[in-house]
Amino acid sequence: MRKLLASLAITMGAVGAAHADLQSEADAAAGREKAQACAACHGQEGISPSGAFPNLAGQQASYLAKQIMDIRDGNRMVPQMAGQVDDFSDQDAWDVAKYFAEQEPALGQADPDEALVEHGRELYRAGDMAKGIPACAACHTPTGQGIGTAVYPALSGQHPEYTVSTLQAFAAGERANDPAAIMRDIASKMSDRDMEAVANYVLGLH
Ligand code: HEC
Ligand code: HEC
Repeated sequence: MRKLLASLAITMGAVGAAHADLQSEADAAAGREKAQACAACHGQEGISPSGAFPNLAGQQASYLAKQIMDIRDGNRMVPQMAGQVDDFSDQDAWDVAKYFAEQEPALGQADPDEALVEHGRELYRAGDMAKGIPACAACHTPTGQGIGTAVYPALSGQHPEYTVSTLQAFAAGERANDPAAIMRDIASKMSDRDMEAVANYVLGLH
């Protein structure tokens, strides 16, 4: 695991350096213009009206830019977004990413079912040694806001429906744009109950 983390850090460092200029020159006002077309599904301020679409508000800009470029380049398949970002330059991706990153994140009320919350908290903070699942907090941070420089996304305030469906996609290998297959490996060890519990827990985490 330590070796994996070290190689991940090196990969991320390289990605970070390559995009340092684009990131520092990102223009949120230009991004706002470009983001008009995204509003129907992701909301004007990045809070989407339905769990079928991820919230983008308050997400790490580095992660958003990576996803937009991955979707554009076909490294992450999102059929619903066909044509949406095809003509985006890398700079456009960073501009839009910066705009959404600056919006106020959504924070939901988790389902108060005590057993579910407890299971989610335990898994998030400590992982599950027996199943070989690491603590989510190690990368996504204890408050769920992620780490921009490492391109670790925020999870807090995300629609549970989306969190579960993207974990399922990682587990099935349908989503395969995670560096070093880190999330495919973790998600494949999670039960349906694990996914539901952690998705519920991060909704209200901050
Ligand atoms: C017709 C609906 C629709 C439109 C319009 C749309 N998206 Fe999406 N977008 C989706 C769906 C659905 C997903 C999640 C797919 C999945 O589950 O993997 C998604 C995922 C994303 C993600 C990944 C988020 C994450 O947390 O990993 C980003 C970033 C994104 N969209 C950006 C955009 C941008 C920028 C635009 C506008 C230029 C846009 N989208 C327009 C439907 C849409
Ligand atoms: C070693 C670091 C690491 C650990 C530990 C980790 N993650 Fe991740 N996670 C990542 C990275 C990196 C990504 C972004 C992958 C990409 O670029 O598409 C990610 C992405 C995700 C996403 C997708 C977010 C989105 O908006 O689409 C979810 C959900 C997620 N992780 C949940 C978890 C859960 C739940 C756990 C604990 C059981 C966990 N992660 C543990 C590194 C980690």
